Amino acid sequence: MNFIKLKAKEVLAPFIYKRLNSGLQPERLYYYLHTIINKKEIEGGILEIGCHLAGTSIIAKNMISKLGYDKSYECLDTFGGFVKEQFDNDALKYKVPNRDGRFFSANSKKLVQKILKIHSREDIKLIQGDIASFDVQKLSTPISICLLDVDLEIPIYEGLKKIYPLLSKHGIILIDDCPEKTSWGGARKGYEKFMNEINASPEYRFGFGVVEKIS
Ligand SMILES: C[S@@+](CC[C@H](N)C(=O)[O-])C[C@H]1O[C@@H](n2cnc3c(N)ncnc32)[C@H](O)[C@@H]1O
Repeated sequence: MNFIKLKAKEVLAPFIYKRLNSGLQPERLYYYLHTIINKKEIEGGILEIGCHLAGTSIIAKNMISKLGYDKSYECLDTFGGFVKEQFDNDALKYKVPNRDGRFFSANSKKLVQKILKIHSREDIKLIQGDIASFDVQKLSTPISICLLDVDLEIPIYEGLKKIYPLLSKHGIILIDDCPEKTSWGGARKGYEKFMNEINASPEYRFGFGVVEKIS
């Protein structure tokens, strides 16, 4: 079923992906773009972990180009949805409904590459992998801004452990799905677990968890 859905999406891509859709809530899309502008002088590129169909990535990179400055933009995703053990952890501990486990699964790197082409944004680099087991030496570093949008406790916690050391001074990570009330209960837990380990207080802006590198 997923296979048929994916093939249909690939064939119909020029029609169904003409319009850009960000997966972020409007206030968080605003804050992400605002952060990109605010941090434009900080050394390093942008990394989005969990890009789905790259709607947010294309919007952000279009804005960067229009403002006339240059920042590399990389996206890391499984391009096949959640890793089963990672989803099962949140289904068990935070009662995430089982049906949500299939979200984002009818996807492929090939499809997202097609979408980038439709929007003439092949300068966004796509990398396939699970952040929890990914060798981060393959990423461009340092990183000035990271949007970590993978919804679940394990990849958020493991992602933060891996990306935080790669941030440049005054670099920032925004973790999506961290408001007080959300069906993605594990996101905030993964974020708070990491903040506790680095002896920092959690800080929330517009429902993002925030990690900033001061020195
Ligand atoms: C909510 S969507 C991302 C939405 C996107 N940032 C946007 O704003 O349009 C979550 C994405 O995280 C990806 N994902 C989930 N677990 C992952 C993992 N362990 N490593 C990498 N990507 C993962 C999924 O495949 C999915 O594409």
